[in-house]
Amino acid sequence: MHVLGIESSCDETGVALVRATGPAIPSLLAQALHSQVAMHADYGGVVPELASRDHIRRVLPLTRQVLAEAGIGLRQIDVVAFTRGPGLAGALLVGAGVACALAAALDRPTLGVHHLEGHLLSPFLSADAPQFPFVALLVSGGHTQLMRVAAVGDYHLLGETIDDAAGEAFDKSAKLLGLGYPGGPALAQLATQGDAGAFKLPRPLLHSGDLDFSFAGLKTAVMVQHRKLGPAPSTQQLADLAASAQAAIVEVLVKKSLAALKATGLTRLVVSGGVGANAELRRQLDAAALRSGFRVHYPALALCTDNGAMIALAAAMRLQSGAAAATKDYAFDVRPRWALDQIS
Ligand code: KG4
Ligand code: ZN
Repeated sequence: MHVLGIESSCDETGVALVRATGPAIPSLLAQALHSQVAMHADYGGVVPELASRDHIRRVLPLTRQVLAEAGIGLRQIDVVAFTRGPGLAGALLVGAGVACALAAALDRPTLGVHHLEGHLLSPFLSADAPQFPFVALLVSGGHTQLMRVAAVGDYHLLGETIDDAAGEAFDKSAKLLGLGYPGGPALAQLATQGDAGAFKLPRPLLHSGDLDFSFAGLKTAVMVQHRKLGPAPSTQQLADLAASAQAAIVEVLVKKSLAALKATGLTRLVVSGGVGANAELRRQLDAAALRSGFRVHYPALALCTDNGAMIALAAAMRLQSGAAAATKDYAFDVRPRWALDQIS
């Protein structure tokens, strides 16, 4: 079974093709991605209308590229999958519309996929694929969640952020330090030159006794410390503040992940979403895994941020497990707001 996946929920157009044979983990045949980051950078954030228009421009050339690279003809596609939500309504409609039109023209079924399920299952494409059940730490630009994952489609929310997401905390701190948008990777890079103990920053909800997160206060604390540095802080001071901000975010993510493993009695942790690319987070989770005797799985670095491969994979795994059936009704009712534990 060949599944084409189209991701267009935010500022990346991703297209990919996977092949699923029997119950084996699907394999990725080809993928292509266009990031709109440069286009939105001037505005300091994603401009929804520009995002939608750019998805329209990119999605068909990327689809042609993927099929050519995989050596697969249009007629060999068995299912066309797309991101149904959550995300920007106009951006989602582009991927959904193209997927449904293509599938209708080919007389093939479609399947709308939850974006976060794509992130959550993306480590199954890595060489060290996880096994169910596991705890998932989903850390992206829009979400921070801990889930208990029993099987494909069986997701139980353990805790989530009550305000900003971890990626937002990275991005907003980076913006305050003048690192542009989205500043997560730039902040992480600057942090490698800094002293993480230089500034005392809050660890919100660290001892709350539950598995929820809060990052909004951290951004304010970074702003206060940045102001105290005066109008012309040195590069070293900025690096120290970057390292301190990263340390605060990472410490909370690591401690809450360990608490989630303890609460569920599980011994496998799966990390996914853009912040899962963070080297300091990976270093501390790897060290904790060695110390405490659990396994930790990550997607390949290139599959941490948004991509089409995770959407094609999630669709293929849902079909394989019987969690969903592809249909030919071609109704692209996208869901801009959609909780992962509400998928059926
Ligand atoms: O999963 P993703 O591509 O998009 C959403 O679904 O939101 O995540 C993007 C987020 C951004 O906030 C970005 O700054 C952050 O992931 N990010 C990082 C790193 N790479 C991406 N944050 C910290 N360190 C990184 N290396
Ligand atoms: Zn995402």
